[in-house]
Amino acid sequence: MDNDAFFRKLWDDYVEIAPRAAGIRAHFESLGETVVDDHVAFRTFDRDSISIAALEPQILGLGYVLSGEYRFEQKRLRARSYSPKAGNGPRVFLSELCVDEFDPAFGEVIDTLVSEVDTQSGMGLAYFYAGRPWAAPSFATYSRLAEVSEYAAWVAALGMRANHFTISINALNGFHTLESVLAEVEALGFSVNDSGGRVKGSPATRLEQASTIADRVPVEFAGGDHYVIPTCYYEFALRHEDGDGVLFDGFVADSADRIFESTHS
Ligand code: NI
Repeated sequence: MDNDAFFRKLWDDYVEIAPRAAGIRAHFESLGETVVDDHVAFRTFDRDSISIAALEPQILGLGYVLSGEYRFEQKRLRARSYSPKAGNGPRVFLSELCVDEFDPAFGEVIDTLVSEVDTQSGMGLAYFYAGRPWAAPSFATYSRLAEVSEYAAWVAALGMRANHFTISINALNGFHTLESVLAEVEALGFSVNDSGGRVKGSPATRLEQASTIADRVPVEFAGGDHYVIPTCYYEFALRHEDGDGVLFDGFVADSADRIFESTHS
């Protein structure tokens, strides 16, 4: 599978549960824009079989290099970002929940799910859009996890897939600010995540980001019950150059911290 095919698979899987993203992308294309992805982000647990360490070789194998490491104290997350060596293709952002920083009962729920992961077939690229690699949890389990960590509940219910794609504003011709893009998105009837302000970051941090509120779609839980839960959101990023004219290639932890909240109920 070449890189284009990989990212296309991820996109097709993502828009199935985040149909608004397809609508927003199509809207910008209808304005004559070529939509370029700034980055694609994933969520996982820090358990051996599915941790960042287990996933990373696949991303490096696509011709990517590590570009940054991040820690989110309050959400108990750790993350790494990767950039394509050749300079084409979206950056990749992998985050993982530090499960042992929660109480043991919480960790047991996570470990029960992770014990079902089929490690025999290995971590091929297809794992990145495989969806839930364990049986559907009950809605009660999902709700209990969500009380402690919305991130954990999201991974438990939805598994492995793109959590969000991100439109590069740098690559747009007719839009040069976050606010102009957000106004366009709101005119389509979609809400913007205003946790921590509509626009996270500034030219001084060299990365400005914003996102929609996640789509909400029915998801199947144990016993065949369906509940409408937050799924995925669409993000927008504008990168700035440093004093030497080099475009910022990493991420800003404080901003990403609030972007994570785009999937809160
Ligand atoms: Ni992001």
